[in-house]
Amino acid sequence: MSIGIFDSGIGGLTVFREISREFPEADIYYLGDTARVPYGNKSKNTIIRYSLECANYLLGFGIEALIIACNTASSYALETLQESLDIPVIGVVEPGVELAIRYTKNRKIGVIGTQATVKSNSYKFSIEEKGDFQVFQKACPLFVPLVEEGMIDHKITEMVIKEYLEDLVKEGIDTLILGCTHYPLLKESIQRIYPYLTIVDSSKAIALYFNNIGTEFKGRGEKKIFITDESHSFEKLKNMLVGNIPLEKLELSKLCSL
Ligand code: DGL
Repeated sequence: MSIGIFDSGIGGLTVFREISREFPEADIYYLGDTARVPYGNKSKNTIIRYSLECANYLLGFGIEALIIACNTASSYALETLQESLDIPVIGVVEPGVELAIRYTKNRKIGVIGTQATVKSNSYKFSIEEKGDFQVFQKACPLFVPLVEEGMIDHKITEMVIKEYLEDLVKEGIDTLILGCTHYPLLKESIQRIYPYLTIVDSSKAIALYFNNIGTEFKGRGEKKIFITDESHSFEKLKNMLVGNIPLEKLELSKLCSL
């Protein structure tokens, strides 16, 4: 069986990595739309259009399930993709929410993500729908470039983490959802600064979610990673996340003409 995963860039390989660990025999096709990253500051219509193009490309591999690894695309394009495709489409928001409401003790949950994800209120609405929880959100736009520069353990990153998270921590959150594909790479640094927070990593959450719905994925174990543009930082991040699986370049025009 085969699974398609797409993200605006390389950060979604955090999801690819977890899904590959859970389903080593599955054929997994990943598309990172690196030519058009970031999606996090684009409009809703653009995010939906890009997401449809990514999904259509992956359908060409005969995928039987699609994971939207990008939080921004999950926040804006999930419904459209679910309505227009004949296969199950799963976004990262719901699995993260389910874990967070299970973990929180004081019912105060923090959510961090891109500007677009926070603006969509996708996490907030989904959490509030499930009961009496308080949700505190914060857009953290500097995290993506810091991760892409490999500045994971850097003192500047530590300062930025404190700057962004201070307000949420002051509100008394006990659980924090990492609502962006790149943020799992900052999990350890965040945990070191705030050891009392329970951190929900959406890449792990989606792998658990897939397992819980009892999906059996057996195939030839083929793993392919496509990107729409190359850059030194993408290569570096890819190596950190999935080692030596090569990045295959895909012309953006192919994606747009589908
Ligand atoms: N993949 C995006 C997300 O998870 C982060 C990068 C972007 O802004 O496109 O929201």
